Amino acid sequence: MSKGTQYKSRESDSNGIIHWSDEENQVWSELFDRQIKLIKNRACDQYHDGLDILQLSNDRIPQLPELNKKLKKTTGWQTAEVPALINFSEFFRLLANKQFPVATFIRTREEFDYLQEPDIFHEVFGHCPLLTNPAFAHFTHTYGKLGLNASKEDRVFLARLYWFTVEFGLVNTADGLRIYGGGILSSPGETIYALESATPVRKPLEPVDALRTPYRIDIMQPLYYILEQFDDLFTLSEMDLMALVQQAKTLGLFEPLFPPKEKKVSGQN
Ligand SMILES: [Fe+2]
Repeated sequence: MSKGTQYKSRESDSNGIIHWSDEENQVWSELFDRQIKLIKNRACDQYHDGLDILQLSNDRIPQLPELNKKLKKTTGWQTAEVPALINFSEFFRLLANKQFPVATFIRTREEFDYLQEPDIFHEVFGHCPLLTNPAFAHFTHTYGKLGLNASKEDRVFLARLYWFTVEFGLVNTADGLRIYGGGILSSPGETIYALESATPVRKPLEPVDALRTPYRIDIMQPLYYILEQFDDLFTLSEMDLMALVQQAKTLGLFEPLFPPKEKKVSGQN
């Protein structure tokens, strides 16, 4: 989670409607049009099913109340309008209550291709379609409940599992490897790289391994973990994940597959 941001969330009116500017709607529209083409045959079927249900608008930023109606009917989830940055406790508290935090700002054109802070395009386009899926919804809910009660140290381990699943997960299907991680699905460069580049390592998801794998938020991922099948997210939710965190702590972290981060630059965490 970034420690500083140039962005400020917009606030909704008394009807839950956000009055986005034409430029903000235009940025959404361009991001949407570019990404919708790229995810064809790259995103998993469950994600496409979710897109069919949500029917996200392509010409303007979707309003959260319209998404909430559809999410409610499928898995009972809701979105929650939040500031550009929230702390971990608030993040886990929301997920534990089946509320998916959506920071209500959209990237500027200067950061059109990549930004570290999760904006509304990342949250809504990247994650919300899968919140209509029972396995994904259950896993995200379980993660929220565990995180809410976990120690600060254990939360860091749990966050790695979230990173390598909800954010950057791949899944095996009868048609080949597909993407379900929202961090990938909201990034044009990584949508192609994650599946087609020979550079990253791709390994079957072993939860303890994921808990032990360091990551960086500001580079293309050097490693992706693959679910054998999408519904394994159910199985994962039913495992004693906190016992696996203890195991991961005992075993220690893997050596990072990325170079050490350069000195801090203002604006980066
Ligand atoms: Fe995310």
